[in-house]
Amino acid sequence: MCRLSVNINKIALIRNSRGANLPDLCQLAKDCQEFGAQGITVHPRPDERHIRFSDLSELKEVISTEFNIEGYPSDYFIKKVLEIKPHQVTLVPDSPDALTSTTGWDTNLHQELLKKIVGNLKDKGIRVSLFLNPDPTLIESAQRTGTDRIELYTGGYAYNYGIDMSQAITPHIQTANAAIEAHLGLNAGHDLNLDNLEFYYNQIPELLEVSIGHSIICDALYFGLQNTIAMYLNKLQ
Ligand code: PXP
Repeated sequence: MCRLSVNINKIALIRNSRGANLPDLCQLAKDCQEFGAQGITVHPRPDERHIRFSDLSELKEVISTEFNIEGYPSDYFIKKVLEIKPHQVTLVPDSPDALTSTTGWDTNLHQELLKKIVGNLKDKGIRVSLFLNPDPTLIESAQRTGTDRIELYTGGYAYNYGIDMSQAITPHIQTANAAIEAHLGLNAGHDLNLDNLEFYYNQIPELLEVSIGHSIICDALYFGLQNTIAMYLNKLQ
Protein backbone atom coordinates (compact mmCIF):
# COMPACT_ATOMS: atom_id res chain seq x y z
CA MET A 1 0.00 0.00 0.00
CA CYS A 2 1.22 3.51 -0.83
CA ARG A 3 0.12 6.14 1.65
CA LEU A 4 -1.20 9.49 0.51
CA SER A 5 0.13 12.13 2.89
CA VAL A 6 -1.54 15.49 2.30
CA ASN A 7 0.75 18.49 2.69
CA ILE A 8 -1.34 21.24 4.29
CA ASN A 9 1.10 24.15 3.99
CA LYS A 10 -1.15 26.00 1.54
CA ILE A 11 -4.02 25.97 4.02
CA ALA A 12 -1.78 27.67 6.58
CA LEU A 13 -0.78 30.21 3.93
CA ILE A 14 -4.44 31.18 3.38
CA ARG A 15 -5.05 31.34 7.13
CA ASN A 16 -2.01 33.55 7.67
CA SER A 17 -3.12 35.97 4.96
CA ARG A 18 -5.97 37.24 7.17
CA GLY A 19 -4.63 36.82 10.68
CA ALA A 20 -7.51 34.81 12.19
CA ASN A 21 -7.90 31.03 12.37
CA LEU A 22 -9.72 30.51 9.06
CA PRO A 23 -9.36 28.02 7.52
CA ASP A 24 -8.76 26.02 10.68
CA LEU A 25 -5.65 23.93 10.10
CA CYS A 26 -6.49 21.26 12.67
CA GLN A 27 -10.03 20.85 11.36
CA LEU A 28 -8.65 20.58 7.85
CA ALA A 29 -6.15 17.92 8.95
CA LYS A 30 -8.97 15.98 10.63
CA ASP A 31 -11.12 16.27 7.50
CA CYS A 32 -8.33 15.09 5.18
CA GLN A 33 -7.99 11.98 7.33
CA GLU A 34 -11.76 11.52 7.45
CA PHE A 35 -11.76 11.69 3.64
CA GLY A 36 -9.17 8.92 3.43
CA ALA A 37 -5.72 10.56 3.55
CA GLN A 38 -3.30 8.24 5.29
CA GLY A 39 -0.99 10.96 6.52
CA ILE A 40 -0.53 14.69 7.04
CA THR A 41 2.65 16.51 6.05
CA VAL A 42 3.79 19.96 7.07
CA HIS A 43 6.89 21.89 6.16
CA PRO A 44 7.56 24.71 8.62
CA ARG A 45 10.04 27.11 7.02
CA PRO A 46 12.25 29.51 8.97
CA ASP A 47 10.06 32.54 8.11
CA GLU A 48 6.90 30.60 9.17
CA ARG A 49 5.05 32.02 6.18
CA HIS A 50 2.71 29.05 6.16
CA ILE A 51 3.07 26.42 8.90
CA ARG A 52 4.19 27.94 12.19
CA PHE A 53 6.23 25.98 14.67
CA SER A 54 3.46 26.74 17.17
CA ASP A 55 1.02 24.78 14.95
CA LEU A 56 2.89 21.53 15.46
CA SER A 57 1.70 20.48 18.91
CA GLU A 58 -1.98 21.12 18.09
CA LEU A 59 -1.64 19.17 14.86
CA LYS A 60 0.00 16.29 16.69
CA GLU A 61 -3.14 16.05 18.87
CA VAL A 62 -5.48 15.56 15.90
CA ILE A 63 -3.35 13.44 13.58
CA SER A 64 -4.46 9.86 13.96
CA THR A 65 -2.79 8.59 10.78
CA GLU A 66 0.85 9.52 10.18
CA PHE A 67 2.47 12.87 10.97
CA ASN A 68 5.36 13.81 8.69
CA ILE A 69 7.32 17.00 9.36
CA GLU A 70 9.68 18.18 6.62
CA GLY A 71 12.39 20.76 6.91
CA TYR A 72 15.98 21.85 6.95
CA PRO A 73 17.64 20.49 10.11
CA SER A 74 18.54 23.79 11.79
CA ASP A 75 19.10 23.57 15.55
CA TYR A 76 15.67 25.14 16.08
CA PHE A 77 13.92 22.73 13.71
CA ILE A 78 15.54 19.74 15.40
CA LYS A 79 14.66 21.04 18.88
CA LYS A 80 11.02 21.42 17.82
CA VAL A 81 10.65 18.03 16.14
CA LEU A 82 12.26 16.32 19.13
CA GLU A 83 9.61 17.97 21.33
CA ILE A 84 6.76 16.95 19.02
CA LYS A 85 8.00 13.48 18.08
CA PRO A 86 6.10 13.00 14.79
CA HIS A 87 6.09 9.58 13.15
CA GLN A 88 8.48 10.74 10.46
CA VAL A 89 10.85 13.62 9.81
CA THR A 90 11.87 14.31 6.21
CA LEU A 91 15.12 16.25 6.03
CA VAL A 92 15.49 18.67 3.12
CA PRO A 93 18.55 20.76 2.19
CA ASP A 94 16.61 24.00 1.56
CA SER A 95 18.19 27.37 2.17
CA PRO A 96 16.23 29.57 4.64
CA ASP A 97 14.76 31.72 1.84
CA ALA A 98 13.78 28.83 -0.48
CA LEU A 99 10.41 29.30 -2.16
CA THR A 100 10.01 25.53 -2.30
CA SER A 101 12.31 22.49 -2.30
CA THR A 102 14.08 22.15 -5.63
CA THR A 103 16.79 19.59 -4.99
CA GLY A 104 17.77 16.75 -2.69
CA TRP A 105 20.78 16.22 -0.43
CA ASP A 106 24.30 15.68 -1.55
CA THR A 107 24.70 12.75 0.85
CA ASN A 108 28.45 12.57 0.30
CA LEU A 109 29.11 16.24 1.02
CA HIS A 110 26.79 16.35 4.03
CA GLN A 111 27.50 12.84 5.30
CA GLU A 112 28.71 13.81 8.79
CA LEU A 113 25.91 16.33 9.41
CA LEU A 114 23.25 13.89 8.27
CA LYS A 115 24.69 10.95 10.18
CA LYS A 116 24.59 12.95 13.42
CA ILE A 117 21.07 14.27 12.90
CA VAL A 118 19.62 10.99 11.64
CA GLY A 119 21.10 9.20 14.68
CA ASN A 120 19.68 11.81 17.02
CA LEU A 121 16.15 11.54 15.58
CA LYS A 122 16.20 7.74 15.42
CA ASP A 123 17.36 7.53 19.04
CA LYS A 124 14.10 9.29 19.95
CA GLY A 125 12.06 6.79 17.95
CA ILE A 126 11.40 9.06 14.96
CA ARG A 127 11.60 7.56 11.48
CA VAL A 128 13.84 9.57 9.15
CA SER A 129 13.59 10.15 5.42
CA LEU A 130 16.11 12.09 3.31
CA PHE A 131 14.97 14.13 0.33
CA LEU A 132 17.05 12.87 -2.57
CA ASN A 133 17.42 13.51 -6.28
CA PRO A 134 16.75 10.48 -8.50
CA ASP A 135 20.35 9.34 -8.79
CA PRO A 136 21.25 5.74 -7.90
CA THR A 137 24.86 6.71 -7.10
CA LEU A 138 23.59 8.58 -4.02
CA ILE A 139 22.07 5.51 -2.40
CA GLU A 140 25.23 4.09 -0.87
CA SER A 141 26.06 7.34 0.93
CA ALA A 142 22.41 7.85 1.86
CA GLN A 143 22.41 4.42 3.48
CA ARG A 144 25.58 5.27 5.44
CA THR A 145 23.76 8.15 7.16
CA GLY A 146 21.55 5.54 8.84
CA THR A 147 18.34 6.92 7.34
CA ASP A 148 15.27 4.68 7.23
CA ARG A 149 13.90 6.03 3.99
CA ILE A 150 14.52 8.37 1.11
CA GLU A 151 12.00 10.69 -0.49
CA LEU A 152 12.61 10.95 -4.22
CA TYR A 153 12.33 14.51 -5.51
CA THR A 154 9.76 14.29 -8.33
CA GLY A 155 9.91 17.89 -9.59
CA GLY A 156 12.00 16.94 -12.64
CA TYR A 157 9.79 13.94 -13.32
CA ALA A 158 6.68 16.13 -13.27
CA TYR A 159 8.28 18.68 -15.58
CA ASN A 160 9.41 16.07 -18.12
CA TYR A 161 6.37 13.79 -17.87
CA GLY A 162 4.51 15.55 -20.68
CA ILE A 163 7.60 15.54 -22.91
CA ASP A 164 8.83 11.95 -22.55
CA MET A 165 7.34 9.97 -19.69
CA SER A 166 9.62 7.00 -20.19
CA GLN A 167 12.75 9.15 -19.98
CA ALA A 168 11.26 11.06 -17.05
CA ILE A 169 10.70 7.92 -14.98
CA THR A 170 13.93 6.03 -15.77
CA PRO A 171 16.22 7.57 -13.10
CA HIS A 172 13.46 7.11 -10.54
CA ILE A 173 13.17 3.40 -11.29
CA GLN A 174 16.95 3.01 -11.13
CA THR A 175 17.17 4.86 -7.81
CA ALA A 176 14.18 2.98 -6.39
CA ASN A 177 15.80 -0.37 -7.23
CA ALA A 178 19.07 0.70 -5.64
CA ALA A 179 17.19 1.86 -2.55
CA ILE A 180 15.32 -1.42 -2.25
CA GLU A 181 18.61 -3.33 -2.55
CA ALA A 182 20.03 -1.14 0.22
CA HIS A 183 16.93 -1.85 2.38
CA LEU A 184 15.83 1.78 2.35
CA GLY A 185 12.14 2.60 2.30
CA LEU A 186 10.88 4.74 -0.52
CA ASN A 187 8.76 7.91 -0.44
CA ALA A 188 8.29 10.46 -3.22
CA GLY A 189 7.05 13.99 -3.58
CA HIS A 190 6.91 17.36 -5.28
CA ASP A 191 4.70 18.43 -8.18
CA LEU A 192 2.82 15.15 -8.28
CA ASN A 193 -0.71 15.64 -9.59
CA LEU A 194 -3.74 13.89 -11.05
CA ASP A 195 -2.01 13.59 -14.45
CA ASN A 196 1.37 12.20 -13.47
CA LEU A 197 0.69 10.28 -10.24
CA GLU A 198 -0.73 7.02 -11.58
CA PHE A 199 2.14 6.39 -13.99
CA TYR A 200 4.65 7.13 -11.24
CA TYR A 201 2.96 4.79 -8.80
CA ASN A 202 2.68 1.99 -11.37
CA GLN A 203 6.32 2.27 -12.41
CA ILE A 204 8.05 2.62 -9.05
CA PRO A 205 8.39 -0.58 -7.09
CA GLU A 206 7.58 -0.61 -3.38
CA LEU A 207 6.58 3.03 -3.09
CA LEU A 208 5.51 3.54 0.53
CA GLU A 209 4.30 7.12 0.56
CA VAL A 210 3.67 10.16 -1.61
CA SER A 211 3.33 13.60 -0.07
CA ILE A 212 1.30 16.00 -2.16
CA GLY A 213 0.26 19.54 -1.38
CA HIS A 214 0.02 22.17 -4.07
CA SER A 215 -2.01 20.20 -6.63
CA ILE A 216 -4.42 18.76 -4.08
CA ILE A 217 -5.31 22.21 -2.80
CA CYS A 218 -5.61 23.61 -6.36
CA ASP A 219 -7.81 20.69 -7.44
CA ALA A 220 -9.93 21.05 -4.30
CA LEU A 221 -10.96 24.53 -5.50
CA TYR A 222 -12.79 22.88 -8.37
CA PHE A 223 -13.72 19.42 -7.07
CA GLY A 224 -13.94 19.98 -3.32
CA LEU A 225 -11.55 18.46 -0.81
CA GLN A 226 -13.37 15.18 -0.28
CA ASN A 227 -13.69 14.43 -4.01
CA THR A 228 -10.11 15.50 -4.64
CA ILE A 229 -8.66 13.20 -2.01
CA ALA A 230 -10.77 10.35 -3.40
CA MET A 231 -9.44 11.07 -6.89
CA TYR A 232 -5.83 10.97 -5.70
CA LEU A 233 -6.43 7.79 -3.71
CA ASN A 234 -7.93 6.27 -6.84
CA LYS A 235 -4.64 6.86 -8.67
CA LEU A 236 -2.83 4.87 -5.98
CA GLN A 237 -4.87 1.69 -6.29
N1 PXP B 1 8.25 16.98 -0.53
C1 PXP B 1 8.98 18.04 -0.12
C2 PXP B 1 10.32 17.78 0.49
C3 PXP B 1 8.49 19.34 -0.23
O1 PXP B 1 9.23 20.39 0.17
C4 PXP B 1 7.20 19.54 -0.77
C5 PXP B 1 6.64 20.93 -0.85
O2 PXP B 1 6.49 21.45 0.43
C6 PXP B 1 6.47 18.42 -1.18
C7 PXP B 1 7.03 17.15 -1.06
C8 PXP B 1 5.11 18.53 -1.79
O3 PXP B 1 5.20 19.20 -3.01
P1 PXP B 1 3.89 19.75 -3.73
O4 PXP B 1 3.35 20.84 -2.88
O5 PXP B 1 4.39 20.21 -5.07
O6 PXP B 1 2.94 18.59 -3.84
